[in-house]
Amino acid sequence: MANASGLAAERLKTGAFEHKPSGVKYSLSLEGSQLMLTYQDPKDPEIAASRKLEYFLGSGHLGLTYLYSLNDYLFESPIAYYSASQSLDMKPGLESMKQAPPALPVQAECLRCHMSAVQHSDSGTINRYRGLPFLHAGITCESCHGDTRQHLVTGGKALVVNPSKLNARLRDSVCISCHLEGDISVERAGHSALDFKAGDPISDYLAYFVYSGQGATKRGVSEVEQLSLSMCKQTSGDAMSCMSCHDPHYTPIGPREQAAFYRKKCLACHTGATFATAHHPGDPDCTGCHMKRTGAENIPHVAWTDHRILKYPEAPIATANPSSGDALVPVFSPGTTRRDVALAYYNALLEGNFALEPKAYEGLEAIKPELSGDKNALAALGILSEERGDYKQAQELFQEVLKLDPRNLIAISNLGTLLAKSGDLQGAIALWRPAFERNEDVAGLAKNLAQVECIAGDTAAARATLQKTLQYSPGLRDVRQMLTHLPACATQKQ
Ligand code: HEC
Ligand code: HEC
Ligand code: HEC
Ligand code: HEC
Ligand code: HEC
Ligand code: HEC
Repeated sequence: MANASGLAAERLKTGAFEHKPSGVKYSLSLEGSQLMLTYQDPKDPEIAASRKLEYFLGSGHLGLTYLYSLNDYLFESPIAYYSASQSLDMKPGLESMKQAPPALPVQAECLRCHMSAVQHSDSGTINRYRGLPFLHAGITCESCHGDTRQHLVTGGKALVVNPSKLNARLRDSVCISCHLEGDISVERAGHSALDFKAGDPISDYLAYFVYSGQGATKRGVSEVEQLSLSMCKQTSGDAMSCMSCHDPHYTPIGPREQAAFYRKKCLACHTGATFATAHHPGDPDCTGCHMKRTGAENIPHVAWTDHRILKYPEAPIATANPSSGDALVPVFSPGTTRRDVALAYYNALLEGNFALEPKAYEGLEAIKPELSGDKNALAALGILSEERGDYKQAQELFQEVLKLDPRNLIAISNLGTLLAKSGDLQGAIALWRPAFERNEDVAGLAKNLAQVECIAGDTAAARATLQKTLQYSPGLRDVRQMLTHLPACATQKQ
């Protein structure tokens, strides 16, 4: 796990290719010892970029992706290295892009399982860090043992967390914090998953949900969920944990060593006097028969090894069909509230499951009086109200969020739209301009701001806004078009 991320210079993959659907040419190359990403659209010399890659992410089992920063904003490279083909290609999701890709902001939430001591981005920003985004690459001792500085400053008296000495819930929380995603997760009121520390219950920070309907899961299922279904775990209860088989400090390498390593773990519980000698004596590899590899190895965030530990292994489970409209049920999340459930539906809606809108809206509306102080829930209800045409309630809710968090980008973006719609252009500009100064890379915000600036008669400001955001995403056609049509907008006003 120590190799989960690091400096780009430690994993230099170079190469070049042309992405057919867009015609854009990409390359990763060395300038001295610096790994550079460059791309250009041969049809338009203005669409070109050159970025210094700073970090890699991914141990390379599946592949690697790279991170870079520009003016303190952190981004992911649009191209990644794939181990299976040993070549560079577009990042998943960008394969069919018809233009040069927009800058891909990296949120702290994305880093938290791959890096250590991940920091919050600057207040009111998505991905701007004026300090370091994380203090250590890879998974360090602190991820599982808590703050070791405490251990050092007390001359070793304050015990570092030892996961196996914690109660079962806290012990399991350490591994769950990075090895479970569920279909949807929701941050608990007033908490950020980034603040989780070994020794805390993860359920104070996150509530996890899965679609209840069979086959409703769009993703592969994690080791945590699978193990909980196994007869071994169901019968052993809290006595069994991830550590019953894994040593977090040591990974056996090669088939023979792996077979011997895990066999020993199995036999620690399967102790029947004659079991080990009588059960398939010719084949020492217990996991080869009971924990087969599934077909999911090309998908990140999916268990590859079947942790259900079946007597008779069945068909792979990682490829269940998507469906929609199902109920979300909490898993591994004691203390889940109605608010968490409603926000889970809201998050599912954001992922495109539109049928769940009523459950999100009605769920939040029903508990509105309890939401004061809960900016995430208030902002969600604000957006849902706006979508339903209740602008008055939406406006009140966004204002309430801004009282709690004056730089809240969601509230600022949406409240500005409501103001602009009602004709209060200066009000919208006053909200959006400072937010854009903190989030120059957010093209949507730039377009809204430029539009209003232009209609208000300030074409120069509108031009500056659009040009600024193009620094980050030179390929955005709609922004370029707006820029060329700016003079027309000023006359549109009358
Ligand atoms: C992925 C989680 C994880 C990481 C990372 C990790 N450890 Fe551990 N460590 C554990 C667990 C779990 C145990 C308990 C193992 C057991 O008892 O089976 C443990 C046990 C220990 C122990 C024995 C503690 C005792 O009281 O007996 C020491 C010492 C230790 N780890 C040091 C380190 C150091 C130093 C690092 C960083 C180089 C590190 N660990 C990284 C999970 C981790
Ligand atoms: C801070 C996040 C984090 C925590 C906490 C964590 N892991 Fe991991 N673990 C990862 C990541 C990320 C990878 C994958 C590295 C890669 O392939 O890029 C990984 C890989 C693994 C692997 C497979 C490869 C290997 O290195 O052996 C095992 C097994 C594993 N973790 C077990 C555990 C167990 C058991 C715990 C709890 C004691 C735990 N992890 C806690 C993030 C974490
Ligand atoms: C923490 C203890 C523990 C560990 C470790 C453990 N098991 Fe189990 N396992 C159990 C218990 C308890 C049962 C249920 C009673 C029984 O069949 O012995 C069980 C049941 C099983 C079953 C029967 C499942 C069924 O559907 O009937 C299989 C197969 C199995 N284990 C294989 C393994 C293998 C292979 C390993 C090592 C990779 C392993 N177990 C590790 C405790 C454990
Ligand atoms: C009964 C034994 C057993 C238990 C318990 C167990 N694992 Fe595993 N795990 C394995 C085996 C065997 C592999 C495959 C190792 C290999 O091929 O290198 C594996 C592989 C993994 C991997 C690598 C990716 C994959 O799916 O192949 C991760 C991550 C992992 N386990 C996490 C966990 C976590 C988290 C827990 C606790 C919820 C856990 N495991 C509990 C036996 C176990
Ligand atoms: C060659 C494949 C193979 C290997 C290797 C293997 N098993 Fe099995 N195991 C099976 C099959 C098939 C069954 C179901 C039929 C039976 O009970 O023999 C089974 C059944 C079991 C059961 C359930 C027993 C019961 O009475 O229901 C357990 C527990 C188990 N295996 C554990 C292990 C452990 C632990 C190892 C390694 C020491 C291991 N197996 C190695 C194929 C294998
Ligand atoms: C909840 C923890 C978690 C979060 C959040 C997370 N990952 Fe992962 N990621 C993992 C773990 C654990 C693995 C190791 C494989 C597995 O368990 O499926 C992994 C594997 C990967 C791999 C494959 C690396 C390899 O081993 O070849 C890539 C690439 C990756 N993640 C990228 C990302 C990106 C980009 C984000 C943010 C959008 C992200 N991850 C967010 C936990 C996480």
